[in-house]
Amino acid sequence: MITPPVDATTTSAWAALTAHRAAFTPDLRGWFAADPQRAGRLSHGVGDLHVDLSKNLVTDETLEILVRLAHEVDLEGRIAAMLAGEHINVTENRAVLHTALRRPASANPRLVVDGQDVDADVQAELAKVFAFAERVRSGEWTGVTGAPIRTVVNIGIGGSDLGPVMAYEALKPYAADHVELRFVSNIDPTDVAETLRDLDPTTTLFIVASKTFGTLETLTNARLARQWMWTGLVAAGAIEDTDDARSAAVAKHFVAVSTALDKVAAFGIDPQNAFGFWDWVGGRYSLDSAIGTSLAVAIGPDGFRDLLAGMHSVDEHLRTVPFERNVPVLMGLLNVWYVNFLGAHTHAVLPYAQYLHRFAAYLQQLTMESNGKSVRWDGTPVTTDTGEVFWGEPGTNGQHAFYQLIHQGTRLVPADFIAVATPAHPLVDQAAPGAPDVHELFLANFFAQTKALAFGKTADEVRAEGTAEEIVPARVFGGNRPTTSIMAPALTPAVLGQLIALYEHITFVQGIVWGIDSFDQWGVELGKVLANQIAPAVAGDAAALDAQDPSTRGLIEYYLAHRRRR
Ligand code: F6P
Repeated sequence: MITPPVDATTTSAWAALTAHRAAFTPDLRGWFAADPQRAGRLSHGVGDLHVDLSKNLVTDETLEILVRLAHEVDLEGRIAAMLAGEHINVTENRAVLHTALRRPASANPRLVVDGQDVDADVQAELAKVFAFAERVRSGEWTGVTGAPIRTVVNIGIGGSDLGPVMAYEALKPYAADHVELRFVSNIDPTDVAETLRDLDPTTTLFIVASKTFGTLETLTNARLARQWMWTGLVAAGAIEDTDDARSAAVAKHFVAVSTALDKVAAFGIDPQNAFGFWDWVGGRYSLDSAIGTSLAVAIGPDGFRDLLAGMHSVDEHLRTVPFERNVPVLMGLLNVWYVNFLGAHTHAVLPYAQYLHRFAAYLQQLTMESNGKSVRWDGTPVTTDTGEVFWGEPGTNGQHAFYQLIHQGTRLVPADFIAVATPAHPLVDQAAPGAPDVHELFLANFFAQTKALAFGKTADEVRAEGTAEEIVPARVFGGNRPTTSIMAPALTPAVLGQLIALYEHITFVQGIVWGIDSFDQWGVELGKVLANQIAPAVAGDAAALDAQDPSTRGLIEYYLAHRRRR
């Protein structure tokens, strides 16, 4: 019997928010002028992160009612249930325990869930991953010819790709330079072809990462990679063209990460070379499981432990800090305010850190696969709008592309700005006047944008610059465009871990308010099933083609008329 969620829209806090909204006039200029403490009072620490919420469209009263809403939907009960391993992923009848992946080895009392000593299992698997990572990094793990591995190619998609690739890009300064990582995800054959084009099969190791080990894209790419490797090794005279030699090559050049170790063996990968995890780790929450094996090779066990420690510090913050100062809770509630009361449809995440250039792509799966739902966890329809569209690009590139709409468009686009104090590359522009530190120029843009968005520029201010009257309206900035600023000392593995866990928990908080199961993803299934059904039609099967609707048939016929077979 499934316990239904509390319907947020029936709570007294929701009614209070509705009334509050009706009388609400955003006025960041006025609020800051009247209250010199606003920035200090609405800035909070979480781990190493400094989070300034003061440029959001909220008063103390708004926040007070939002926190009341969190209590009325029993957010504290749901956090406790998640951390204790209750089966809060109702539609898949699973615990949700990604937080267990970063509990310290010394955690006491131990976490035992469904009769499983979760802490012991996590530490045992982590030890296997770290031992493997060390062997690759040290050159002890060699390919068939005895040459050390120079390139590790992670083959996975969704959560088995986006986390590792985002984190590898983010932590480049911490990565070993003698082993490069590459990633193949798309079933577009261009991806595997381009990624492998200049690689040497004798020094390449593939990690096939798939929670289910049943994903069409990943298994297809893994087979293509195996074919490429065999062909290359035979051509180089590194192996005989025999079945035994091929199997031996797979053992040296392929490892796997999965919860389905039987399927790994069926693919031909030695179970000794497979790293496991558990059904209570959702794909988009799995970077810190064995899915992060490629990252562990790149940044080493110490870097990976720092990432885990950073994540754990935010888990502890979520668990222990009162909601009034609890950053993921407040940021999740702010998103609810924007979506359900101020009509926001999207949310921008704008890192002023080039190394975070894949962060928005990673967040898109985390947030939208989690909260893009129309039914609640008991199967009843949602009672209000749910997940917003997350998107973003690194600053300052976005400034010269889409910021116009955020500054002066008709849409409300709440935005998170992320920056670090210490750059990875402290360059000085020697030839420019004053020889500016370029990171400081970069930060000046970061500060300027949230200031402009919050406070805008009035018509009188524009006029005072001598602007012709008919041009004034075009040059006015309305302000009251909400932003959150997140700053950190530097982009270290620990800080990246904190950012990831922060957004995981923001997503969770929103899901609880909306009463949805943020940990299933049934919405991706239909397309997968149909792709399998349509594949024969695309290959030219007349009966399969006839079975399609007229639009789909027409599109496939266009392809068939234009195709050039291999
Ligand atoms: O897109 C659906 C999905 O199931 C994601 O949730 C998951 O991260 C991805 O596919 C890859 O799945 P797997 O790791 O099982 O190959």
